Amino acid sequence: MPNIKKLIKELPKAELHIHLEGSLEPELMFELANKNNIQLPFLNIDELLKAYDFNKLQDFLNVYYTGMSVLIEEEDFFDLTMMYLQKCNEQNVKHVEIFFDPQGHTKRGVKFSKVITGINRALKEGGIQFGISYKTIMCFLRHLSESDAFDTLNEAKDYLHMIDGVGLDSSEVGNPPSKFQKVFSEAKQMGLKLVAHAGEEGPPSYVEEALSILKVDRLDHGNRSMESEQLINRLRSEQIALTICPLSNLKLCVVDDLASHPIKKMLKQGLLVTVNSDDPSYFGGYLIENFNAIQESLNLSEDEIVTLIKNSFIGSFLTTKEKNKCIKEIDTYLDETQGQ
Ligand code: HPA
Ligand code: ZN
Repeated sequence: MPNIKKLIKELPKAELHIHLEGSLEPELMFELANKNNIQLPFLNIDELLKAYDFNKLQDFLNVYYTGMSVLIEEEDFFDLTMMYLQKCNEQNVKHVEIFFDPQGHTKRGVKFSKVITGINRALKEGGIQFGISYKTIMCFLRHLSESDAFDTLNEAKDYLHMIDGVGLDSSEVGNPPSKFQKVFSEAKQMGLKLVAHAGEEGPPSYVEEALSILKVDRLDHGNRSMESEQLINRLRSEQIALTICPLSNLKLCVVDDLASHPIKKMLKQGLLVTVNSDDPSYFGGYLIENFNAIQESLNLSEDEIVTLIKNSFIGSFLTTKEKNKCIKEIDTYLDETQGQ
């Protein structure tokens, strides 16, 4: 294995932008559809995979919501979460901050309690089994109303010990962050961390709103920040972490090809960028595949890869002490393998 691929595989990594429902593999989707008597609009896996040909975010979201409709019981959420953790274990991902979309389930009549307890039970068991630490981030669907988001936040109140933050995802254009100002403010008062998708398809002004109006602690995607010198300066000076998702950007046509992906420029500009998989089952790869693809396309150096991996811990919601421990493990690995 070439040195740089070995480095990507072996270094301990964190993933900060992964939608649990986006890790639903086709085999599990059909298995759960059979078990739960859900009629999918695809006859078989081949037909399903043909639908994974997206021109924009909404094309993907349509398939994503159909796919998650097979998740009904607590054990379904448990199994899904466990499968993602198994993948993390194979890829040496040591810390995960997982998004989940409760409204994608409660809107179909699945109880919030089943979603959160299934996920939490798997994180507890899998976390111990594989030595993976975790946080959970409950996302609000931005195509729904702020009042719907408040209902979800209220439902979460009995489960706050299982939730670390709130996020904002789904159809971006036409649903600016400012639409959710009040619910984010309340979530912050409840002690939750704040993140939001912005600047994936939406304009730089959405990134500005996420920072100034929602007051997010971290920004998801943020690609289009590169269109604004002022935003770049702000992201750099405040060292706001950006969770970049290369294969997602390619599949959703946010970039024409990976060779024109902005992540290398972002690094050179001193932004705190990280690499993530977003919806790995739909976009063609988990964390390592994202690193390998972007490394090859942009000819990223070992130093750049190490920076991206260290950033994944720096940008996480771990404590400073926990972050330092992870960075030290990376440095120890590098010391021990130098010259090999
Ligand atoms: N963007 C917005 N919403 C999402 C995404 C995404 O990349 N993945 C799952 N929900
Ligand atoms: Zn996302």
